[in-house]
Amino acid sequence: MNAEMKRKNVLIDCDPGIDDCLALMLALQSPELNVLGITTVCGNVPASQGAKNALKVLKRYGRLDIPVYTGEEHPLKREYISAQDTHGEDGLGDSGIPDVAETVPMQGAVDFLNQTLKDREDVSVIALGPLTNIALALEKKPEAWKRTQAFVSMGGSFKSFGNCSPVAEYNYWCDPDAAAYVYRNLPVKIHMVGLDVTRRIVLRPDLLEYISQISPQEGEFLRKITRFYFDFHWVQEEVLGCVINDPLAVAYLIDPSLCSGIDLYTDIVTEGIALGQSVCDEKGIWKKKPNSHVLTQTDPVRFMHLFLERTAGARDPQLSRVLGQLYPGERFGFSLFAEGREAE
Ligand code: BDR
Ligand code: CA
Repeated sequence: MNAEMKRKNVLIDCDPGIDDCLALMLALQSPELNVLGITTVCGNVPASQGAKNALKVLKRYGRLDIPVYTGEEHPLKREYISAQDTHGEDGLGDSGIPDVAETVPMQGAVDFLNQTLKDREDVSVIALGPLTNIALALEKKPEAWKRTQAFVSMGGSFKSFGNCSPVAEYNYWCDPDAAAYVYRNLPVKIHMVGLDVTRRIVLRPDLLEYISQISPQEGEFLRKITRFYFDFHWVQEEVLGCVINDPLAVAYLIDPSLCSGIDLYTDIVTEGIALGQSVCDEKGIWKKKPNSHVLTQTDPVRFMHLFLERTAGARDPQLSRVLGQLYPGERFGFSLFAEGREAE
């Protein structure tokens, strides 16, 4: 990164969760971001378990200086339904990674979010789980949220099908009331990183193999935490590998050119058979000012280039050659054989 480039201060609200952990890994290894804190919410696993998992990732990168706060253990109005069938009882694919002994998570995610936004300028928020913490924080101190630099939420879907019902995505389905509150009240635009784009981001077995070849330690860690997720995807959808939703939200904050989308008004269904569905008013029928930037397109190969570079230390020109081999026929957003291939 250019030394003069300003790092983006970021708060990450999450429910780790296998793909949340991959997202945290990407954020911690990206010089463009300065992670001010991690808050956890009930989602894939209870918030207390998610906080333990966040610490496990921080420890791996020697970043136990980053504070972790446990947040809400229940959705605003509905019964809590975890995603432990997808992520394992421990949220990390039942990988048996031991808890961090050096420190414990703190309590009070909602107040920490508000205080940080109040104290500092230029803070962006990435929400990778249900929006319960965010809704409560926003309700408590709406002024603080006016200062949010950018708000990115992994959740919802525009034209794609759901993953919890025919139309609903898990994060918004788990706490639809919180999601609706945030969409209706957040004073800044929500960048919605929904299933339309995240479904294209698949950690394939051959990519994992590449990671193991160049970085056996990372490869082993990733294999350990994704095995359960791989099996789930095979049984549910006959997908080889696993869809990794959350890292795309982090990558998008790092480099918004990885995705494109449209501004429109979005609301969330809080009752009935479409519970949790994000309804995006593409044609402006409600005549409401757009409250969201809904992502519709992404470039999975460019994403993988960034992800492998940061998480596994992959480097060009080899990285581009490997991606060219694994994604034949894909049009690359960057020069495939750039920087020195000929010189080899
Ligand atoms: C979202 O739900 C969770 O299972 C994942 O961590 C991701 O945030 C995808 O629907
Ligand atoms: Ca998540």
